[in-house]
Amino acid sequence: MSTPAFDYLFVFFEKLNLYHTIFIMTELKTEMTSCNCGEIQEEELYERLKIIVKSQRTIPGALIPVLQTTQNLFGYLPEKALRIISKELKKPYSEVAGVVGFYSYFSTTPKGKYTVRVCLGTACYVRGGQDVLKALQKELNIGIGGTTPDKKFSLEVGRCFGACGLAPVVMVGDQTFQRVKPTGVGEILNSFE
Ligand code: FES
Repeated sequence: MSTPAFDYLFVFFEKLNLYHTIFIMTELKTEMTSCNCGEIQEEELYERLKIIVKSQRTIPGALIPVLQTTQNLFGYLPEKALRIISKELKKPYSEVAGVVGFYSYFSTTPKGKYTVRVCLGTACYVRGGQDVLKALQKELNIGIGGTTPDKKFSLEVGRCFGACGLAPVVMVGDQTFQRVKPTGVGEILNSFE
Protein backbone atom coordinates (compact mmCIF):
# COMPACT_ATOMS: atom_id res chain seq x y z
CA MET A 1 0.00 0.00 0.00
CA SER A 2 1.29 3.46 -0.79
CA THR A 3 0.67 6.65 1.13
CA PRO A 4 0.44 10.26 -0.11
CA ALA A 5 3.90 10.97 1.32
CA PHE A 6 5.38 8.04 -0.56
CA ASP A 7 3.54 9.04 -3.72
CA TYR A 8 5.12 12.50 -3.52
CA LEU A 9 8.47 10.86 -2.87
CA PHE A 10 7.94 8.74 -5.92
CA VAL A 11 7.17 11.81 -8.09
CA PHE A 12 10.39 13.40 -6.81
CA PHE A 13 12.30 10.23 -7.49
CA GLU A 14 10.65 10.00 -10.87
CA LYS A 15 11.93 13.48 -11.76
CA LEU A 16 15.44 12.52 -10.69
CA ASN A 17 15.26 9.60 -13.06
CA LEU A 18 13.68 11.53 -15.91
CA TYR A 19 16.80 11.74 -18.06
CA HIS A 20 17.54 8.12 -17.39
CA THR A 21 14.02 7.16 -18.48
CA ILE A 22 14.25 9.32 -21.60
CA PHE A 23 17.50 7.56 -22.48
CA ILE A 24 15.87 4.16 -22.14
CA MET A 25 12.82 5.22 -24.18
CA THR A 26 15.01 6.69 -26.91
CA GLU A 27 16.98 3.48 -27.11
CA LEU A 28 13.79 1.47 -27.16
CA LYS A 29 12.30 3.63 -29.91
CA THR A 30 15.44 3.24 -31.99
CA GLU A 31 15.20 -0.51 -31.59
CA MET A 32 11.53 -0.54 -32.53
CA THR A 33 11.67 1.86 -35.46
CA SER A 34 14.59 -0.01 -37.01
CA CYS A 35 12.25 -2.95 -37.53
CA ASN A 36 10.16 -3.22 -40.72
CA CYS A 37 8.20 -6.19 -39.53
CA GLY A 38 4.85 -4.46 -39.06
CA GLU A 39 2.96 -5.02 -35.85
CA ILE A 40 5.29 -5.96 -33.04
CA GLN A 41 4.36 -9.28 -31.49
CA GLU A 42 4.35 -9.84 -27.77
CA GLU A 43 7.33 -12.19 -27.86
CA GLU A 44 9.27 -9.59 -29.76
CA LEU A 45 8.43 -7.02 -27.12
CA TYR A 46 9.91 -9.34 -24.53
CA GLU A 47 13.07 -9.74 -26.60
CA ARG A 48 13.40 -6.00 -26.93
CA LEU A 49 12.78 -5.59 -23.23
CA LYS A 50 15.65 -7.98 -22.50
CA ILE A 51 18.01 -5.91 -24.64
CA ILE A 52 16.97 -2.69 -22.92
CA VAL A 53 17.20 -4.12 -19.42
CA LYS A 54 20.63 -5.62 -20.13
CA SER A 55 21.85 -2.21 -21.22
CA GLN A 56 20.79 -0.77 -17.84
CA ARG A 57 22.37 -3.48 -15.74
CA THR A 58 25.30 -1.43 -14.51
CA ILE A 59 23.41 1.82 -13.94
CA PRO A 60 22.64 2.49 -10.27
CA GLY A 61 18.94 3.04 -9.56
CA ALA A 62 17.88 1.52 -12.87
CA LEU A 63 14.98 -0.48 -11.46
CA ILE A 64 12.27 2.21 -11.34
CA PRO A 65 13.07 3.74 -14.76
CA VAL A 66 13.12 0.23 -16.23
CA LEU A 67 9.74 -0.53 -14.65
CA GLN A 68 8.34 2.75 -16.02
CA THR A 69 9.63 1.89 -19.48
CA THR A 70 8.20 -1.60 -19.27
CA GLN A 71 4.79 -0.31 -18.20
CA ASN A 72 4.82 2.14 -21.12
CA LEU A 73 5.75 -0.70 -23.44
CA PHE A 74 3.14 -3.26 -22.37
CA GLY A 75 0.53 -0.96 -20.84
CA TYR A 76 1.04 -2.78 -17.54
CA LEU A 77 3.63 -4.96 -15.87
CA PRO A 78 3.18 -8.63 -16.78
CA GLU A 79 4.76 -11.14 -14.40
CA LYS A 80 6.92 -12.45 -17.21
CA ALA A 81 8.37 -8.97 -17.73
CA LEU A 82 9.06 -8.63 -14.01
CA ARG A 83 10.94 -11.94 -14.07
CA ILE A 84 13.04 -10.76 -17.01
CA ILE A 85 13.83 -7.52 -15.16
CA SER A 86 14.71 -9.49 -12.03
CA LYS A 87 17.05 -11.76 -13.97
CA GLU A 88 18.72 -9.12 -16.11
CA LEU A 89 19.18 -6.60 -13.30
CA LYS A 90 20.29 -9.43 -11.02
CA LYS A 91 17.80 -8.48 -8.34
CA PRO A 92 15.63 -10.92 -6.39
CA TYR A 93 12.14 -11.22 -7.87
CA SER A 94 10.73 -10.38 -4.45
CA GLU A 95 12.51 -7.02 -4.55
CA VAL A 96 11.18 -6.18 -8.01
CA ALA A 97 7.64 -7.27 -7.09
CA GLY A 98 7.94 -5.36 -3.82
CA VAL A 99 8.73 -2.10 -5.60
CA VAL A 100 5.85 -2.66 -8.02
CA GLY A 101 3.44 -3.34 -5.16
CA PHE A 102 4.65 -0.36 -3.18
CA TYR A 103 3.89 2.33 -5.75
CA SER A 104 0.30 2.82 -6.87
CA TYR A 105 1.69 4.14 -10.17
CA PHE A 106 2.56 0.60 -11.23
CA SER A 107 -0.04 -1.91 -12.31
CA THR A 108 0.21 -5.65 -12.85
CA THR A 109 -3.15 -5.85 -14.61
CA PRO A 110 -3.94 -4.58 -18.12
CA LYS A 111 -5.51 -1.13 -18.25
CA GLY A 112 -8.18 0.29 -20.47
CA LYS A 113 -7.41 2.60 -23.38
CA TYR A 114 -7.99 5.60 -21.08
CA THR A 115 -7.28 5.76 -17.38
CA VAL A 116 -9.77 7.92 -15.49
CA ARG A 117 -8.20 9.32 -12.32
CA VAL A 118 -10.35 11.05 -9.73
CA CYS A 119 -8.50 13.29 -7.31
CA LEU A 120 -9.34 12.61 -3.69
CA GLY A 121 -6.76 15.00 -2.26
CA THR A 122 -8.04 17.26 0.52
CA ALA A 123 -9.29 20.13 -1.66
CA CYS A 124 -11.03 17.82 -4.12
CA TYR A 125 -12.44 15.65 -1.38
CA VAL A 126 -14.10 18.55 0.48
CA ARG A 127 -15.45 19.95 -2.80
CA GLY A 128 -17.23 16.79 -3.82
CA GLY A 129 -14.57 14.52 -5.30
CA GLN A 130 -16.16 11.54 -3.63
CA ASP A 131 -19.51 12.26 -5.34
CA VAL A 132 -17.73 12.60 -8.68
CA LEU A 133 -16.10 9.24 -8.06
CA LYS A 134 -19.45 7.64 -7.27
CA ALA A 135 -20.94 9.10 -10.45
CA LEU A 136 -18.06 7.70 -12.50
CA GLN A 137 -18.38 4.29 -10.87
CA LYS A 138 -22.07 4.29 -11.74
CA GLU A 139 -21.54 5.55 -15.28
CA LEU A 140 -18.74 3.07 -16.02
CA ASN A 141 -20.26 0.32 -13.91
CA ILE A 142 -16.86 -0.57 -12.44
CA GLY A 143 -15.13 -0.06 -9.11
CA ILE A 144 -11.81 1.58 -8.29
CA GLY A 145 -9.03 -0.29 -10.07
CA GLY A 146 -11.53 -1.80 -12.51
CA THR A 147 -11.60 -1.72 -16.29
CA THR A 148 -14.69 -1.64 -18.47
CA PRO A 149 -15.40 -4.87 -20.41
CA ASP A 150 -14.67 -3.09 -23.71
CA LYS A 151 -11.22 -2.13 -22.29
CA LYS A 152 -11.93 1.52 -22.97
CA PHE A 153 -11.70 2.97 -19.44
CA SER A 154 -9.94 2.08 -16.21
CA LEU A 155 -10.84 3.88 -13.00
CA GLU A 156 -8.35 5.01 -10.38
CA VAL A 157 -8.10 7.59 -7.62
CA GLY A 158 -5.25 10.01 -7.04
CA ARG A 159 -4.14 12.44 -4.38
CA CYS A 160 -3.69 15.96 -5.76
CA PHE A 161 -3.02 16.75 -9.37
CA GLY A 162 -1.74 20.24 -8.55
CA ALA A 163 -4.93 22.11 -9.46
CA CYS A 164 -6.52 22.41 -6.01
CA GLY A 165 -8.01 25.86 -6.75
CA LEU A 166 -10.16 24.27 -9.44
CA ALA A 167 -11.31 21.23 -7.46
CA PRO A 168 -12.73 18.70 -7.90
CA VAL A 169 -10.38 17.51 -10.59
CA VAL A 170 -10.52 14.45 -12.84
CA MET A 171 -7.93 13.29 -15.35
CA VAL A 172 -8.77 11.13 -18.33
CA GLY A 173 -5.57 9.98 -19.98
CA ASP A 174 -3.44 13.11 -20.03
CA GLN A 175 -6.40 15.52 -20.15
CA THR A 176 -7.45 17.37 -17.01
CA PHE A 177 -11.03 18.32 -16.20
CA GLN A 178 -11.65 20.88 -13.47
CA ARG A 179 -14.63 21.78 -11.28
CA VAL A 180 -16.22 18.53 -12.35
CA LYS A 181 -19.81 17.92 -11.30
CA PRO A 182 -21.27 14.44 -10.83
CA THR A 183 -23.84 15.31 -13.49
CA GLY A 184 -21.08 16.15 -15.97
CA VAL A 185 -19.13 12.90 -15.96
CA GLY A 186 -21.15 11.32 -18.77
CA GLU A 187 -20.35 14.20 -21.10
CA ILE A 188 -16.64 13.91 -20.26
CA LEU A 189 -16.57 10.19 -20.96
CA ASN A 190 -18.51 10.61 -24.19
CA SER A 191 -15.86 12.97 -25.50
CA PHE A 192 -13.43 10.06 -25.73
CA GLU A 193 -13.51 7.84 -28.80
S1 FES B 1 -6.45 18.09 -4.03
FE1 FES B 1 -7.22 17.65 -5.99
S2 FES B 1 -5.95 18.80 -7.30
FE2 FES B 1 -5.12 19.15 -5.34
